[in-house]
Amino acid sequence: MKPKILVTREVFNDVLEYLSQYFDVTSNQPDLPMDAETLAANLADKQGAMITLSDKIDATLLSRCPNLKAICNIAVGYNNVDIEACRKAGVMATNTPGVLDDTTGDFTWALVLATARRLTEAEAYLRAGQWDRWKLKQFLGLDVHHATLGIFGLGRIGQVVARRAIGFEMKVIYHDVRRAVSEIEEASRARFVSKEELLSQADIVTIHVPYSPATHHLIGKQEMERMKPTAILINASRGGVVDDVALIEALLSGTIAGAGLDVFENEPKLNPGFLALKNVVLAPHIASSSKATRHKMAMLAAENLVAALTTGHPPNLLNPV
Ligand code: GLV
Repeated sequence: MKPKILVTREVFNDVLEYLSQYFDVTSNQPDLPMDAETLAANLADKQGAMITLSDKIDATLLSRCPNLKAICNIAVGYNNVDIEACRKAGVMATNTPGVLDDTTGDFTWALVLATARRLTEAEAYLRAGQWDRWKLKQFLGLDVHHATLGIFGLGRIGQVVARRAIGFEMKVIYHDVRRAVSEIEEASRARFVSKEELLSQADIVTIHVPYSPATHHLIGKQEMERMKPTAILINASRGGVVDDVALIEALLSGTIAGAGLDVFENEPKLNPGFLALKNVVLAPHIASSSKATRHKMAMLAAENLVAALTTGHPPNLLNPV
């Protein structure tokens, strides 16, 4: 008998076909939302699951899934999974590192350029039929070329973002919990600075750190007050790394000039304050969403699940024992 697995959200057909060669698959192709109770009920008799970042895996859920051996996240970030609880329950947890770095880095630049040059605000004005003449001082923005880019987190995605900055002839500074090795600093042409220095010097601050209790509200009121009033803040990492209430206040009061955001606290229920602001570019957590990359992510999660339940050695194991 094939092991039973659950795929919690809609995935590509060929990924399901691949999984079906190894498993008795229960899938959710209609993409119906699953609350905690539905997820637990559907997982109760399964040995494995392919999940997304909206599915919360914690000790309570695991206690209801005695047969579960593997949880494979279709995401590189895994703050939705309690890794320690998985370890205690003997459940392997995996993620999808590497395959989305370039695409997420590209999208970060979409946010940088759209925010700096006020693209969505200008488009809304044009669509509303308000454009009656060319004006010298219309939608004056921030120059990206030769500006100073400040990167929080020079991991895989932060490095991609830094390398893209070379084309804009920017000065790149970064801060991280640990200084990168010199090869990475050289390839990224990035100089390590303190958190305070980054905030006060950067024209564009972009965040590429994982969410954890240590990075909760890494950027809050105090941090925004250190930034230049002309600076913009970009977040394509995780909601909760930025204090959204403080950000809305900073955007309203002119503490900073703008923000480009792909992620939010309590997403998808973003703070309605954002919707009333003109100086913010908003996206629904799509930084990794190119067709090719989302396919690679789903296939890598599937490969992790197959390896976990056949060999016990998935390539992207997060909690080796
Ligand atoms: C997307 O947000 C991911 O973590 O892969």
